[in-house]
Amino acid sequence: MYRCRGCGAGLDHELVDLGPSPFSNAFVDGPDDAEMFYPLRAFVCEVCFLVQIPAVANPADIFNDRYAYFSSANAAFVEHARTFAENAIATLGLDRTSHVVEVASNDGYLLRQFKAHDIAATGYEPSESVAAVARQSGITTLVQFFGAATAGLIPPADLIVANNVIAHVPDLHDFVEGLRIALKPGGRISIEFPHVLKLLEQVQFDQIYHEHYSYFSLLALEPVLAEHGLAVERVELLPTHGGSLRLWVEHVRSQAPYVSPEALGETAFGLREIATYDRFKQRVQNCRSEAVRFFLDVHESGRTIAGYGAPAKAATFLNFCGIRRDLLPWTCDNTPRKIGRYIPGARIPIFPEEHIAEDPPDYLVLLAWNWKAEMTRKAREQFGFTGHIVTAIPHVEID
Ligand code: TMP
Ligand code: ZN
Repeated sequence: MYRCRGCGAGLDHELVDLGPSPFSNAFVDGPDDAEMFYPLRAFVCEVCFLVQIPAVANPADIFNDRYAYFSSANAAFVEHARTFAENAIATLGLDRTSHVVEVASNDGYLLRQFKAHDIAATGYEPSESVAAVARQSGITTLVQFFGAATAGLIPPADLIVANNVIAHVPDLHDFVEGLRIALKPGGRISIEFPHVLKLLEQVQFDQIYHEHYSYFSLLALEPVLAEHGLAVERVELLPTHGGSLRLWVEHVRSQAPYVSPEALGETAFGLREIATYDRFKQRVQNCRSEAVRFFLDVHESGRTIAGYGAPAKAATFLNFCGIRRDLLPWTCDNTPRKIGRYIPGARIPIFPEEHIAEDPPDYLVLLAWNWKAEMTRKAREQFGFTGHIVTAIPHVEID
């Protein structure tokens, strides 16, 4: 039996089975290339309520030189990073004597903002492809996984930024122990992750993919932090990835938790009751039925359709729904490494974004629904798109 990576209890309560799927960021080069499929089954721990997928895959198989997610390709993301850095510098009083560490520093999009203020910055980034871009822009980057064994390789940090990484970690305790080691006394850690409450509430099943080993609530993560002498000082609610939490964490100074799951509405939503998790499966199936019916209707009526975005979650969505090229002939994305390749499994070809203007379909499905405002604006204003804009999660919505 699998074991919960939070509390160690036996793990056999299935949240949802999304069927075998390839790694969602392993874009396929050619239409006839072979791919590996791995089970995509999420579980919930009946003891600590951590939602998770067992580590069926080795992280080095996922975060390697084929990894094609470049943070700085996304203007809105870069803007988010800039405000984050400026606020952190102001609230934590960082200056030229400070050291900022980022875990999963990607192509250096965030650390660049600190360097611009003459603050020493170091990144950990296991994917060579993205780390190389960071190094070219002068950001010291260790091509390493972060954990207890690697946390001491650099001077202790006044600020550790671990935004959108803790979900990607198979050995959670090793990672959190690394955070404890790397943090200077009095320092702060920022930990951002998509809130599992939103995933359940909004049926965001496409957020489930092999890269995301854990799906956190405050109530499931807090005991793990506490075991390593870390406490949550403050929590912010963010709109990113369909609804995220940003925890500000420090070395424990008092016994009492500073922020409670009650205050975030987690208890009221039912995150302490297994029945809440049990309702998810049926809602996922309903979402799939609606989506498939819509794609079939469009197909049978002879109207045209295309996707906008080739995010990792598109692979989960399309593979689970069984939507392939016959129902979705193409999608488009602004990430250079994705263009010209194919969405894993579903094998949908990825064109540049400008394709929307060149070959406008009747329906444009936002596969990156979390960028709805940005993508709608671009489609309408930049690409002159006048057709329908569609989102499929949690329900098919046609604009
Ligand atoms: P994400 O939801 O994981 O951030 O991925 C969003 C994807 O959508 C990523 O591949 C970049 C792409 N994208 C565009 O192609 N155009 C855009 O305007 C935005 C915001 C994202
Ligand atoms: Zn557990």
